[in-house]
Amino acid sequence: MFKELVKKNRSYRKFYGDYIIDSQILLDLIELARITPSAANRQPLKYILSNSEDRNAKIFETLAWAGYLKDWQGPEVGERPTAYIVVLGDTAISKDFNVDPGIVMQTILLGAVEKGLGGCIFASIKRSLLADNLDIPERYQILNVVALGKPNENIVIDDIKDGDVKYWRDENSTHHVPKRTGDELILK
Ligand SMILES: Cc1cc2nc3c(=O)[nH]c(=O)nc-3n(C[C@H](O)[C@H](O)[C@H](O)COP(=O)(O)O)c2cc1C
Repeated sequence: MFKELVKKNRSYRKFYGDYIIDSQILLDLIELARITPSAANRQPLKYILSNSEDRNAKIFETLAWAGYLKDWQGPEVGERPTAYIVVLGDTAISKDFNVDPGIVMQTILLGAVEKGLGGCIFASIKRSLLADNLDIPERYQILNVVALGKPNENIVIDDIKDGDVKYWRDENSTHHVPKRTGDELILK
């Protein structure tokens, strides 16, 4: 069952644009983040939650979508994420956020998938524009954004071919994600 959850937790980039994600859902996901491991238990991560049209638009315009899909500029109006969690590092607590954001974001996404939702992690962000758009004080370093919604996209995992890591979409718009096979991952 857990494997199914991990499998289903793909990077979704197309959503039902009219599906409202309640604030309580976002709070439930932050509650998961709150109890994840943290280096030296410093817990330096803070979050900005968004599920309003206005704030969502201010975040959307700062994100770079699916770099390998050269002919696709990101989801159209009507298929965009309906919520976001901006992951911030509080530099008053620590200057080094270690792998905390990764642990937090995967936990958030697994929690979202369990609720029938899904999303995508973003590192490619126009950070100064996002800081301006959301009035984020300088004390907070923008680490990542997690986009969330009700996925409207078919995604499959393939075994990698010829070492090509690029994800791609077929003629039916199914999104293919090549993954290295287990025998390549484990050194003998
Ligand atoms: C740290 C990190 C940063 C990422 N940044 C972006 C991004 O800026 N834009 C994007 O479209 N996808 C981004 N992704 C999603 C990856 O492209 C995705 O994880 C990868 O293609 C594999 O697909 P999968 O998540 O379905 O396994 C990011 C993923 C991770 C883990």
